[in-house]
Amino acid sequence: MSKNIAIGVDIGGTGIKAAPVKLKTGKFVEERYRIPTPDPSTPDSIARTVAKCITRFEPSRKTPVGVAFPGVIQQGVVKTAANLDDAWIGVNLRELIRDYAGHDVYVMNDADAAGFGEHRHGAANGRDGVVLMTTLGTGIGSALIADGELVPNTEFGHTIIDGEIAEHWAAESARDRLDLDWDGWIKNLQRFYSEMEKLLWPDLIIVGGGVSKSHHMFLPHLTLRAPIIPAELRNGAGIVGAASWAAAAVKREEKRAKDAAKVAEKKAKKAASKG
Ligand code: BGC
Repeated sequence: MSKNIAIGVDIGGTGIKAAPVKLKTGKFVEERYRIPTPDPSTPDSIARTVAKCITRFEPSRKTPVGVAFPGVIQQGVVKTAANLDDAWIGVNLRELIRDYAGHDVYVMNDADAAGFGEHRHGAANGRDGVVLMTTLGTGIGSALIADGELVPNTEFGHTIIDGEIAEHWAAESARDRLDLDWDGWIKNLQRFYSEMEKLLWPDLIIVGGGVSKSHHMFLPHLTLRAPIIPAELRNGAGIVGAASWAAAAVKREEKRAKDAAKVAEKKAKKAASKG
């Protein structure tokens, strides 16, 4: 697989989707591959499916692979999984996928991946300042990007507003569950985004998730200081973001290793000249 390509995988509630992504353009170089999310969505069944998605594209040993997961991830370990099985908490997702796929991977929160993808190749491309990405789906995902740097695991969908967790009444899934018409849902979205503005003062707000296809039904009805616009990469944002993130992580690690080697070389030379 070419040097300028990375593979992104997005673990969702209904499907696990993957594609190889051209890093310069953010475009898929092969058709996206999708496997329905196994039920029950246990760590082993999901990791096995993710591995299948990765190996299908026959990555070379050096191809970066990024995986987006719908929960908090720290150092490869799952810390929360609000909309998945509790068995996930404490699982080292990075190691588990590596074991099944025989390939190293980088794992991150799904909304962080989508936000990173939108910043690299979508609606927030190259934007400075504070960009708030939100995904409206079963839950609400969030990503905060300040001058191009991602602050991971913000989880703003779990903010308690008026005594209740925001995603319970403002996620796309709340429309059905609470039997809300557009006006009712828009009121809830207004409550959520006003609170976000109060706390974060974003320069730009991006809205992703399946419902962002119908953005004209709700975005123009929200009154906010910052522009609020639909995501551009739609369904692909998580894949593009995870792939780009993995490639950036590989670069960072390579640079660190090179710098460390240089320092060691200098030290060795100094020691030799002294001796
Ligand atoms: C989870 C987030 C996730 C979001 C979207 C929320 O319930 O806590 O981690 O990003 O759903 O999947």
